[in-house]
Amino acid sequence: LAPKRDSVVRAAGASTVVQPEGFQVTTVPTKPIEGQKTGTSGLRKKVKEFMSPNYLANWIQALFDSLPDEDVKGSTLVLGGDGRYFNKEAAQIIIKIAAGNGVAKILVGRDGIASTPAVSAIIRARKANGGFIMSASHNPGGPKYDWGIKFNYSSGQPAPEAITDKIYGNTQSIKEIKQADIPDVNLSELGVHKFGDFTVEVIDPVADYLDLLEQVFDFDLLKSLLTSKDFRFKFDAMHAVTGAYAKPIFVDRLGAPEDSVFNGVPLEDFGGGHPDPNLTYAEELVKIMYGPDAPDLGAASDGDGDRNMVLGNHFFITPSDSVAMIAAYAEAIPYFRSGLKGLARSMPTSGALDRVAKELGLPFFETPTGWKFFGNLMDAGKCSVCGEESFGTGSDHVREKDGIWAVLAWLSIVAYKNKGKKEGEELVSVADIAKEHWRKYGRNFFSRYDYEECDSDSANKMVEHLRSIIASSKKGDKYGPYELEVADDFAYTDPIDGSVATKQGLRFIFSDGSRIIYRLSGTGSAGATIRIYIEQYEPDTKKHDLDAQEALKPLIDIALSISKLQEFTGRTKPTVIT
Ligand code: G6P
Ligand code: ZN
Repeated sequence: LAPKRDSVVRAAGASTVVQPEGFQVTTVPTKPIEGQKTGTSGLRKKVKEFMSPNYLANWIQALFDSLPDEDVKGSTLVLGGDGRYFNKEAAQIIIKIAAGNGVAKILVGRDGIASTPAVSAIIRARKANGGFIMSASHNPGGPKYDWGIKFNYSSGQPAPEAITDKIYGNTQSIKEIKQADIPDVNLSELGVHKFGDFTVEVIDPVADYLDLLEQVFDFDLLKSLLTSKDFRFKFDAMHAVTGAYAKPIFVDRLGAPEDSVFNGVPLEDFGGGHPDPNLTYAEELVKIMYGPDAPDLGAASDGDGDRNMVLGNHFFITPSDSVAMIAAYAEAIPYFRSGLKGLARSMPTSGALDRVAKELGLPFFETPTGWKFFGNLMDAGKCSVCGEESFGTGSDHVREKDGIWAVLAWLSIVAYKNKGKKEGEELVSVADIAKEHWRKYGRNFFSRYDYEECDSDSANKMVEHLRSIIASSKKGDKYGPYELEVADDFAYTDPIDGSVATKQGLRFIFSDGSRIIYRLSGTGSAGATIRIYIEQYEPDTKKHDLDAQEALKPLIDIALSISKLQEFTGRTKPTVIT
C-alpha cells in the first residue's frame, strides 16, 4: 500500500524567500472584547464582528497565552481554511501573531485552503503541535455571513474544553498582542518564506491528505469503478473547500470523468449557497439524483469538508445507516483489513450501528453529540469507525469526521460489491446494498426535525416542560400504542478519562426500541435551534420500502404532542427535515 504520487503537485521547493535579519516583535496594547467564548466547534461569529479591530488578534493571542510553552516556543503549527470571505486577511494576522509568540514554523495550505480533515491529517503527518482551521463549517459565508476559527491539537483533534475554557478566560483579561513586524506572505504559491528563525511554508493542501487516503483505500479498485462505463458518479462540492480536493482526487487520481464534479470551485461566499450537505440545502444534487437518468452515486460535502451526504439513484442513505453499512462492509477498505477495534455513534444517531457491532462482536460506544467525544476512544485504540446523524462519518485515520473519506468508503463498497461484474451486466446499486443490509439487520427508520432560529426563551421553556414530564414518568407509561421503557436526560462518562458530560439530550425510549429525542443545537448562530430525532426499528422486510416520513408519522405526532412544540414556539412546521 505504498502511496503513489501521480497527479498532484507536491510542495517540493518552489520559491524560497529568506530574510536572515529576522524581525521585530511589536507589543500592541489591547482590551478584552466580550463574547469570545469558544464553543464545540471553535469561535463562530458574523464576519463583521471578526473584522472589528483586534477581534481576531485578541482571540489568537489568548490562545497562545493558553497553550503550554512547548506548544508555542519553537513549535510547528498548521493553518488552513475553507476559502470563505476574510480567510486571506485572517491568515496574515494569525501568521504575524504566531511569529510574535515564538512559533518556529507555520505550514499553510495554498491560498489559505485546507479542509478540516486535511488539517487533521497534516498535523499528524508532519507531527505538528497543532493547527488552525479558518471556517464556520456549513454556515453561509460572505461579508454579511459567518466566520469562524477552530484550534486542533497534536493528535489532530479539536482542542479539549480545558484549553477552550482557558482561551475564553484569557480573552477576558488580555492586555497586549505580540505581533511580528513581517510583511504579508504570498500564500498563492507553494514555497518557503524565512524570517530569521521563523518559517512559513506554503504547502499543497491535498498532498499529505491524499497520501493518507491512498493508504486507507484500494485506489486501483476505486479507479476501476470510476472509469467504468456502467457507473456514473456526481460530487457536489457546494463551492466550498472540497472543490480543492474533488478534482485532484476523483478526477485526476481516480479517473472519474471531469463533469463528475460540480460547484467545484471554492468561492468566498460559496456561490451564495448554504454549504450543508443535506436534502434541503444540497438541492442541486438532490434534483440530479432524483431526476431522469440519475447517476449511480451522488455525494456532497460541507463548507470545511468534514460532513457528507451520500445518495444512490433515487435513494437517500441516512447518515445513521451510512456509518452502519460502512462498518458492515469494512472488508472493502484495506485500512480495516486487520479488523475493526470498535464502533461508536452519537446518542441521537439511530441504532443501526449497534446491530452491526453486535453481529460482529465489537466494542460499542454511545457518545454525546460532538465529534470530540470520539477522539479519546480512537486514541485509546477502541474505535475504528464512528458516525453521527448530522452527516458526519469517519474513522481513526484522522481525528475529525471526513467527507471525502465517507464518499470513498461508499465508492469502495459499490466497487467491492461489483467486483467481477462484466461490462453491460447490471450494477449492484447503492439501493440494493442498503436493502440487503436491512434484510439482514432490520431497518432503523430515522428522521430529524429542525426548528431553526426559535426564540431562545420559548425553546428553553419547552425543554423545562419536557424535563418535568421526564421527572414524573415511569416505565410502562402509555404514549398511544407505545409503552415507555425509560425517559431521561442523557449523560456520558468518558471511559478513558472518566470525564462526565450531562444534559446531552432528552430521551423517551419505548419498549420496542423506538426513540424520541429532543436537543437544543450547540452550533446555531442565532436564537435556538430545536432538534427532534425520531427513530423506529422495523424487522419486517415487507415494510422496508415505506417512506421514512410515513413510517414514522405516529411517533412524530407523539413527539410534537409531548413537547407542545407548537404551543411553546408558534412553529407549525420544521425548517429542515433530514
Ligand atoms: C458539528 C459537530 C458535530 C455535531 C453537529 C451538530 O458538525 O462537529 O459533531 O454533531 O455539529 O451539532 P448540533 O449541536 O447543532 O446538533
Ligand atoms: Zn463542517
